Amino acid sequence: MTRLQARELTLAYEDRTVVRGLDLAVPDGEVTVIVGPNACGKSTTLRALGRLLRPKEGAVLLDGTALAKLPTKKIAQQIGLLPQSPVAPEAITVADLVARGRQPHQHWWQQWSDDDERAVTEAMERTDVSDLAERSVDELSGGQRQRVWIAMALAQETSLLLLDEPTTFLDISHQVEVLDLVRQLNHDKGRTVVVVLHDLNQAARYADHLVAMRAGSVVASGPPSEVVTAELVREVFGLDCVVVPDPVTGSPLVVPGAPWGA
Ligand SMILES: Nc1ncnc2c1ncn2[C@@H]1O[C@H](COP(=O)(O)OP(=O)(O)OP(=O)(O)O)[C@@H](O)[C@H]1O
Ligand SMILES: [Mg+2]
Repeated sequence: MTRLQARELTLAYEDRTVVRGLDLAVPDGEVTVIVGPNACGKSTTLRALGRLLRPKEGAVLLDGTALAKLPTKKIAQQIGLLPQSPVAPEAITVADLVARGRQPHQHWWQQWSDDDERAVTEAMERTDVSDLAERSVDELSGGQRQRVWIAMALAQETSLLLLDEPTTFLDISHQVEVLDLVRQLNHDKGRTVVVVLHDLNQAARYADHLVAMRAGSVVASGPPSEVVTAELVREVFGLDCVVVPDPVTGSPLVVPGAPWGA
């Protein structure tokens, strides 16, 4: 049983089809990572999984019911989505933006609860943005801003979390921190996470389930040790490489072929 799945999903922007007949079952309680070249449809797929985009054909099912048939608030209580390039309202503070993650849990009779407060504080601590609370989001560096958006998604406290390239703009230690956090959320709270990542080696390290896409379709999926092969990297990215075991984790490590001039 998987809570979230896409069936025969076709996604288009007006008359341009980007994803065709895609089937995807997101394993419960695991970290799924989607990889693939630029413009292959990763973000488009993730947005459909979070109901930001309505399928042209097929459906995304949550607990067996098509998202299109569920009320928005109910979906937002279950699925959190961090898009690739989110846009913050002008001049909003960090604390206020993170607090927006609580909207799906609020009721007209109770504007702000202790639970909301706890969730926001915890999310800001976990993403290391507590010190930025009163700063305006506009004034932050790309990496700081990225962590604030992740805090907002965490504050939503959904059992399913979809993150589109959460490590863009982050320096290497913050990248590792964010990915460790994803793992930790998954481990401690059994959350199901779907992440789009560009770095194949990070994907292989952090994924339980790896999905490789190319030109709007899934080319391969399964455990990284089975999916990440030199043949697959050539097929999906058109890159010659050698795959060796990661010296720390043993997961597949992609080493590109000799650089120009070497
Ligand atoms: N809002 C939009 N309107 C029209 N076309 C779009 C829109 N968003 C994406 N596309 C097109 O859909 C295709 C897939 O885009 P998508 O953003 O899903 O790719 P991606 O795999 O996430 O790429 P990247 O790795 O660069 O983020 C691209 O050709 C893109 O130009
Ligand atoms: Mg994208």
